[in-house]
Amino acid sequence: MKDIKTIGIVGAGAMGRGIAQIAAQAGFDVLLFDLNADAVAAARTSLSEMWDKLAAKGKIPQDVAKQSLQRVQSCTEVQALSKADLVIEAVVERLDVKCELFRQLEGIVSADCILASNTSSLPITAIAQACTHPSRVAGFHFFNPVPLMKVVEIIDGLRSDPLTGDALMALARAMGHTPVRAKDMPGFIVNHAGRGMNIEGLKTAQESVAPFYQIDAIMREQAGFRMGPFELLDLTGLDVSHAVMESIYQQFYDEPRFRPSPITAVRSAGKLLGRKTGQGFYAYPEGQKQVPVEPEVPKPTQGLKVWLAPYHSVGHKRAAALLKDLGVAIIAAEAPPADALIVVTPYGEDTATVVSEHLLDGERTVALDTFFGLEQGKRRVLMCSVATLPKWRDAAHALFASDNTPVSIIDDSAGFVGQRVVATIVNVASDIAQQAIATPTDIDLAVSLGLGYPKGGPLSMGDSLGGAHVLEILRCLYRTTGDMRYRPSPWLQRRVQLGLSLRAEAACVAR
Ligand SMILES: NC(=O)c1ccc[n+]([C@@H]2O[C@H](COP(=O)([O-])OP(=O)(O)OC[C@H]3O[C@@H](n4cnc5c(N)ncnc54)[C@H](O)[C@@H]3O)[C@@H](O)[C@H]2O)c1
Repeated sequence: MKDIKTIGIVGAGAMGRGIAQIAAQAGFDVLLFDLNADAVAAARTSLSEMWDKLAAKGKIPQDVAKQSLQRVQSCTEVQALSKADLVIEAVVERLDVKCELFRQLEGIVSADCILASNTSSLPITAIAQACTHPSRVAGFHFFNPVPLMKVVEIIDGLRSDPLTGDALMALARAMGHTPVRAKDMPGFIVNHAGRGMNIEGLKTAQESVAPFYQIDAIMREQAGFRMGPFELLDLTGLDVSHAVMESIYQQFYDEPRFRPSPITAVRSAGKLLGRKTGQGFYAYPEGQKQVPVEPEVPKPTQGLKVWLAPYHSVGHKRAAALLKDLGVAIIAAEAPPADALIVVTPYGEDTATVVSEHLLDGERTVALDTFFGLEQGKRRVLMCSVATLPKWRDAAHALFASDNTPVSIIDDSAGFVGQRVVATIVNVASDIAQQAIATPTDIDLAVSLGLGYPKGGPLSMGDSLGGAHVLEILRCLYRTTGDMRYRPSPWLQRRVQLGLSLRAEAACVAR
């Protein structure tokens, strides 16, 4: 592969402009073309303003700002890209348009020029089919906004020469981005891994487990994510997210793990799209998000007796330590006395299942989620059975909030909220690894940089929460619901069976 010095960019929209910025700042000459000449002019003006701003703030030296702008050449005809060593396409997301453009480019550029597509959802192999030399075609998938989102997916089409991808990996590093490598499969890595949070969050809401704002609060303040699923959907907008959910589901031929929700179909039809329409899962009067007020903490129940179920050893240990810290003497009896609050700590089971399996009194039983730990200040989640009386719910609420820790009260759900959403995220990521779409390292890197997930990415998250617990939650979810979406990925199951990290690659591979 020849050295890349000049980069052609086709499409001067949000993405083309962002790619032009990081390429020119990294010292590459940029040829920017768009069918719409105004778009090129607008992009150059916005780049100029951006570099001036960065220089004024001291983020880049003045001369770098000036030289960067000089490196970006506006092109009025696609033929002007003939000198490019690489052309990056960032035009409208339509296969017919991209194929036609690639066909045209092959007649313009040199024989060893690389042709890359920034597509988010179209198969690279299908775009490359338009070319006489598909080996020079690969995916180069940046995220929006390009200068801030420091990850880029390099996708090998079925006919791509691996050297094409290698050259793009090196180029991404030279532009200050972190490259990850993916097979040509729907959603590549990030948009595939991102299914877990949205789809399981929606399923949980559809079962009326908790209101949208509570699910978000739990995902942020208990599970440690920057945003919950509904905040994220409001930010992206359902016009984009709902279409992506349907597209990935269809491209994987109705894989139950990706089954979209009628919630987003109806809300899309009603134009409750999110921030952009002022009304999504939250209302945004004058652009300000309105969050419902949480219910008040009830008064503590005097002389409350608490019986803690011993059925889950880890859950029991964590809950017992917390109750001790809260100054509660747990009743030591083997069976719960008739006047005590019953606290159970299931992993993947709902309260009703624990009550019926152990012949407990459903009216007095409340479940506590211990999966993420119970430190003071970290939101705690309590779950009622459909028989739990308000008196016992309130007693549990006051008790577990007594050290000023926020508490969410949810309805019965196999896997509470956090357990089922996080187990789904880890399961989807495990299955990306099982399908060899990317290495475990690249899956974690792509997701932590592309989606901002905590704990170093979904596979590392599974390791730190305990792969065996994640598997246990999924198996219970599958048993309780009978829904194939919860079947554990073989990647996860085998690593847990063998006591290995979820990031472990096989010691030897099929030949
Ligand atoms: N916006 C995002 O968040 C995002 C993120 C990752 C990838 N992508 C992908 O990047 C690509 C571009 O997205 P965008 O958001 O910048 O789009 P955009 O609509 O902002 O810009 C597309 C530009 O392409 C131009 N164009 C259309 N057809 C053309 C052609 N045949 N030749 C030359 N120019 C043409 C249009 O005039 C327009 O200026 C799409 O494939 C999209 O899926 C977008």
